[in-house]
Amino acid sequence: MEVRSATFSMQEVNEPVALFLFEDDLSNLDFLGELKEAVKRLLEVENFKGKEESLAKVSLLVGDVVRVFYAVGLGKKDRTGEDSYRIASALLAKKARKDRVKSLYLFAGKLNYRLSKAITEGAILGSYRFDKYKTKKEEENSTELESLHIHGADEEGIRVGRVFAEAQNFTRDIVNEPGNVINPISLAELAQKVAQEHGLECRVYDEKEIQEMGMYALWSVGKGSATPPRFVHMVYKPEGEPKEKIAIVGKGLTFDSGGLNIKTGDYMRTMKMDKSGACAVIGIMKALAQLKPRVEVHGIFGAAENMPSGTAYRPDDIIRAMNGKTIEIDNTDAEGRVTLADALSYASNLGVSRIIDMATLTGACMVALGEYTAGLFTNDDAFGDELLEISKLTGERMWKLPMDDRRLREKIKKGEGDVLNSGGRYGGAITAAMFLEEFVGEGIKWVHLDIAGPAHLREEFAYYSKGGTGYGVRTCLEYIMKLSEK
Ligand code: BES
Ligand code: MN
Ligand code: ZN
Repeated sequence: MEVRSATFSMQEVNEPVALFLFEDDLSNLDFLGELKEAVKRLLEVENFKGKEESLAKVSLLVGDVVRVFYAVGLGKKDRTGEDSYRIASALLAKKARKDRVKSLYLFAGKLNYRLSKAITEGAILGSYRFDKYKTKKEEENSTELESLHIHGADEEGIRVGRVFAEAQNFTRDIVNEPGNVINPISLAELAQKVAQEHGLECRVYDEKEIQEMGMYALWSVGKGSATPPRFVHMVYKPEGEPKEKIAIVGKGLTFDSGGLNIKTGDYMRTMKMDKSGACAVIGIMKALAQLKPRVEVHGIFGAAENMPSGTAYRPDDIIRAMNGKTIEIDNTDAEGRVTLADALSYASNLGVSRIIDMATLTGACMVALGEYTAGLFTNDDAFGDELLEISKLTGERMWKLPMDDRRLREKIKKGEGDVLNSGGRYGGAITAAMFLEEFVGEGIKWVHLDIAGPAHLREEFAYYSKGGTGYGVRTCLEYIMKLSEK
């Protein structure tokens, strides 16, 4: 889709015109000039009030042409943020597709860099669909919006918004690929291909090298599968001295059957999404190559498939991770944290000042926060608060959960190893985060995002469709861009 900044008046265009309108303040309708009153009355008939996530289509005969208008609600003026524009733009793109509108003109009021970026992101995210496996495409009754002309938009906002949204859609594409297509080997190959295309460094370690590095945690989780595990390290380096050096780590379970502690059917369904963190890492690295921030970023993930078999790791196994700590396996279905033990140990050896990890780690996090909000855990409140602040702009909801409960921490210290891979039912998202903290190097600022809920959706809404969401890509990119400007 083409997104452009344009200056146009009602007289100059014949295509459908869209307007973003605030609730109880339809002043943006002034743009319509002499057509304003007529459109206003037609919107009243449609009961359109400018409420958040509302959309109305009205048509009007002007001379001998039928003019089509889309009104999209932003919500109350004092309560709208840039995500309101992102959502409005996505709803508009979705509606345009249904109506087979190929070209649209949009008046959204006075636009700065941030709002232009948000509108662009919304349009590109809202146009996303994963239908490559539909033999018969639904093209007959829908076509993608081909060009969006935004009145008075900021060109740089459009450019950056496109990079952000395309990286997120790319991540969604990989998440949505099933386990028979994306396995640890093909996921690592995909990362390598992205790196090659964008001039990034990328090193892939095979199962032999994984053992040589002492990554017995990752190796153990992967050894039950017919496809062996891989470890992937991508690097983006800016020209000149970087402002900071950080790592983004993702959980990369290409399928999670639970292993010997096998999941029942209902819970196993959708577990192709258990690689969402790793997919976000790949999407972020791809975008960084285009955005060129002055920050050195290491993108890291272990890729494995958690399967039950004669070679699978077992409950009771005691495994040594790369940093020397031993892990006793209580439950083979708590496998993500085991693979992350090695990924975090590795990342800690790179001389980075900060690590962000993203993982579809626990069902418990979804019980705590619902499926639309990620859990945020940190060993540095200021770092955590920075991400929380950014997430208010990006619309990627996250909420901080506590790490200071010493008695709860005891639950993963029981048993015969240094740590136990499950702390039981209560506070399951927190004990999982506490487990991860054991593998973060001294003095490194760390944020863990449990994205089990928002990484994948059962039904579409706002700028999301059913399936993978690419959650985390925009918030991490925004944070890195901010570091670059410091
Ligand atoms: N990948 C799952 C977590 C998950 C659940 C992600 C639902 C998305 C939706 C993880 O590996 C897992 O199985 N966690 C267990 C941990 C338990 C065995 C301690 C869980 O949450 O039940
Ligand atoms: Mn699991
Ligand atoms: Zn898992």
